[in-house]
Amino acid sequence: MPARATGSGSEIARTPPQLRAPRRVLSAAWRSLGLRFAAAGFQGTSAFEITSGHASLRRSPSTRTSGLAAKEALPQPEQGASFAGASAPGGLQIAGALAAAAVVGATARRARKPVVGGNWKCNPESMSKLDGLIANINACDTSKCDVYVCPSPLHVAYCADKFSNGADVTPQNCNFKGCGAFTGEMAVEQMKDMGITQVLIGHSERRGEFGIFPMDDNNTLATKLKYILDAGMSCVFCIGEPKEIREKGLDAVLAEMDVQMTQIYSLLDPAKVVIAYEPVWAIGTGLTATPEDAQATHAGIRKLIAEKASPAVAEAIRIQYGGSANAANAPELSAQPDVDGFLVGGASLKPEFAEIVAAISKAKA
Ligand code: 13P
Repeated sequence: MPARATGSGSEIARTPPQLRAPRRVLSAAWRSLGLRFAAAGFQGTSAFEITSGHASLRRSPSTRTSGLAAKEALPQPEQGASFAGASAPGGLQIAGALAAAAVVGATARRARKPVVGGNWKCNPESMSKLDGLIANINACDTSKCDVYVCPSPLHVAYCADKFSNGADVTPQNCNFKGCGAFTGEMAVEQMKDMGITQVLIGHSERRGEFGIFPMDDNNTLATKLKYILDAGMSCVFCIGEPKEIREKGLDAVLAEMDVQMTQIYSLLDPAKVVIAYEPVWAIGTGLTATPEDAQATHAGIRKLIAEKASPAVAEAIRIQYGGSANAANAPELSAQPDVDGFLVGGASLKPEFAEIVAAISKAKA
C-alpha cells in the first residue's frame, strides 16, 4: 500500500510495496454488492428488509439530538418496498428491478450522515487543558455531520455537559456486567445516568496492539456490544488489522475483518452501531491509507456486512476511517463513497479537528 506520511508522527516511514491492495478486488466487491441489490429486486422483496438477529432500523427514544438527525435520515423499510416492482412483467420487471436497486442503493448512500469522532485517548495530562480541547470541538459545525468525543475516563464527567453543538461524549470502554464489585471498570448504567448515550469499544490499543496487554478480544467485545445495545446505548465498534496482515494483501485484511465481526453481524443495527475501521499500522504513525486503499477496504467491509448481516444493514451502516487522519488528508479520503467519517486521534487534540468535520460535511453534502 503506498501509504503517505502525512502527520507529525516520529516514525514516518515508507510502507513496503507489498502493502499495495489490488484495485480489482474493489470493483469485484462493488459488482457483488450491486448483484445483491439486483437480486433483492428480482425476488420482489424489500431491499431494506432486515433479515438478521437484532438488526433493525428502529430508533431509540433516548437518542440525543445530534445522533437523532442521522437516525431520522436512515432509510425506512417501506422505502425499499416501494421500489420492488414485483407486479411488472418479464423484461420490464427485470429492468425495473435493476433501476430500483440502483435508486435504493443511491438513496441509502446519501442517507448515511457523516460521523467524525475525536479520540483523546489518555490525554491531556492536565485538566487545565480540557477547556481548550472542548473549545476545539465546539468550533465544529455539526449541522451536516455527527461529532463525538472520547475523553479519557478521568475526564468524562467534566466533559459530559460541555458541548454546545451536540457532540456526544463517548467513553473509550465499558464493562459487560454493569455496576458492582468491578474495580477499575466503567458501567453503561453510570454513563446513562450522566446523560451519555454512546460508548466506544474494541480500539486496537485495548485489543493488545502496541505491546499493551490485551484487555479485550473478539469474544469480550461481542458480549460488550450486546450489553450496550440491550441497555439502549449506541456504540462505536473498532476493527482493524496489524501491519503483518496488511502486508499479505486485501484478501487477508478482509479475512481478519470477518473474524473481528463474526460475532457481531447479528447485532449490527445501523441506527445504533458505527464501525470504526482503524488499520493498526496507520495509528499514530503518520502513515495513512491512500484514499483508494481506504475505499477498497471499506467497500470490502461493507460487502462482508451485506453477506453476513443483510444488504440493507450494509448500505445504512456508517464506517469510519481511523489512522493518522488529519485536515490535510481528510478531503481526499472523504471523497471515497464508502468512507462515512473519521475516528481521529492526534488531530482531535488540535484546532484542525473542525477542518476534518468541515471536509467530510462538504464531500457528502
Ligand atoms: P491517530 O489519528 O493519532 O493515528 O489515531 C487514530 C486512532 O487510534 C483513533 O482512535
